[in-house]
Amino acid sequence: MGIRSRWLLSRAKHPSLAGHPRLAKVLARLVPYYEYGGERFFSSDGAPPDVAERRRTAFDRLAKQLGARAPETIRATEMLAPDVSDLQFTGRYRVPFQYSRFVRQHLKAAAFVTESSGVLLKDLDGNTSYDLTGSYGVNVFGYDFYKECIDAGAARMRALGPVLGAYHPLVTENVRALKSISGLDEVSFHMSGTEAVMQAVRLARYHTGKSYLVRFAGAYHGWWDDVQPGVGTPGKVSDVYTLREMDDRSLEVLRTRHDIACVLVNPLQALHTNCSAPADGTLVTSDRAAGVDRAGYTAWLEKLRDVCDRRSIPLIFDEVFVGFRIAYGGAQEYFRVRADMVTYGKTLGGGLPVGVLCGRSALMKRFRDDRPTDVCFARGTFNSHPYVMGAMHEFLQRTNTPSTRACYEHADRVWNERCSALNARLGAERLPVRVANLSSIWTVWYAKPSRYNWMFQFYLRAQGLALSWVGTGRLIFSHDYTDEDVREVAERFVAAAKTMKEDGWWWHQPSLTNESIRRQVLREMFRAAVTLQTSRWDRTARRASDRAANGGTASRHETDP
Ligand SMILES: Cc1ncc(COP(=O)(O)O)c(C=O)c1O
Repeated sequence: MGIRSRWLLSRAKHPSLAGHPRLAKVLARLVPYYEYGGERFFSSDGAPPDVAERRRTAFDRLAKQLGARAPETIRATEMLAPDVSDLQFTGRYRVPFQYSRFVRQHLKAAAFVTESSGVLLKDLDGNTSYDLTGSYGVNVFGYDFYKECIDAGAARMRALGPVLGAYHPLVTENVRALKSISGLDEVSFHMSGTEAVMQAVRLARYHTGKSYLVRFAGAYHGWWDDVQPGVGTPGKVSDVYTLREMDDRSLEVLRTRHDIACVLVNPLQALHTNCSAPADGTLVTSDRAAGVDRAGYTAWLEKLRDVCDRRSIPLIFDEVFVGFRIAYGGAQEYFRVRADMVTYGKTLGGGLPVGVLCGRSALMKRFRDDRPTDVCFARGTFNSHPYVMGAMHEFLQRTNTPSTRACYEHADRVWNERCSALNARLGAERLPVRVANLSSIWTVWYAKPSRYNWMFQFYLRAQGLALSWVGTGRLIFSHDYTDEDVREVAERFVAAAKTMKEDGWWWHQPSLTNESIRRQVLREMFRAAVTLQTSRWDRTARRASDRAANGGTASRHETDP
């Protein structure tokens, strides 16, 4: 690889850790565990004693309130957590790790629900909450819609049952609809969004004979190694370039390199370009930024399309999240840019698990006519499961109606107005918190430097707003939210923010900046690393002196065969 080529590549990598997954992994391994308990928990930002005391009182009150609200739900969650690794993980990373143990001890998670109705969820204690989890993005049209899709789809499939391998005739109609919506030639069915993306990248590598996947900093594409080359993936990932999105330097890389198999875009990144999906577990400062520049992102996608055309690089849109949400034709329609392959998932299964890949024939083909043993293998036991196909059929039928299409027409305006209205209220109340949105996908951002923004999720929960484990990073609305529902959510949101402010969590002094917080956390980590190393040395020295005192017997036992 030439020097110029290397230079162009390193210029195109995002300067943050999001753009340097390998370095991020190395650093992540160096971060030692330390925590704030007692006093420090309430004054980690240097707040004076009276503010810390206000926070402590509020924390106790909130803990009692949340505990009294859902005792049975919390008890069931605590009983299950030791046996379910997912629950342990999400429980641990709900807030930055320094605060996590104290939070887990006092602000208990309540992870069970028994009913959904309209936009409300009911827990084991009979409490109802407005659902802002959106079931990770599956819920676009409201749970009642998906219940109907699942029931009607299952009824259509009852005669066949779970027969796998052969196709039910409804598959033909699904394929026809998907081809028309995506504007692409062929379809393959998978069991999750992750698998659909995996297959798209495999096919691009197979057909181009090139190995490198270009993805953009921060973008999520499922949990398999190549699209998660940084923290979170234990093995080594090669063959992936993580570049800056919306940046001409990345285009230059695409223009000049010869090893690129495909470019993978998650259009949801229009909301927080080059940043990882926002989660409160990493909300250490207040520099979570968000906001859509639709014209700017469209121009970016057009440039990408152009360079990919010139260099014959397949352009893949990962629409697992935004497909069927931001427009009927997804991101391709919303941004008016066509891709060579598009992945869908989440909502498309009509409430059941699915991943779908649509693509140009030349890219979707898994064999070569002139090289019979050179194939790109992809199968899966549950691909095209009749019940999933049935629910998907209902989904595609029910969304292809004039009224649903009309809803899509207005969706952007409606959700932008709702978002602006909430921001206006937050501004009027002088609260240091705001929301940003891409259609019905919202995120919360924080206007003043603070170490305690992650506490906001508990205030929202106490107000009966159900959030997923990433807390205020993602609020996902379903499109059956009426103006009145949204007004009620906004009321509760503002009430939660007011209480949090009164309780002193957003106490602020001018010397507290995002930069000073970052420096403070780095210093803490350094001190914790030194303490850890010193105690290791102490232990080693103590063992050595114990051995010497025992006449060296211990060491002989350890080394003797
Ligand atoms: C853009 C995108 N791609 C892929 C995936 C992975 O889909 P799944 O969780 O169904 O494997 C997700 C999931 O959130 C996603 O948002």
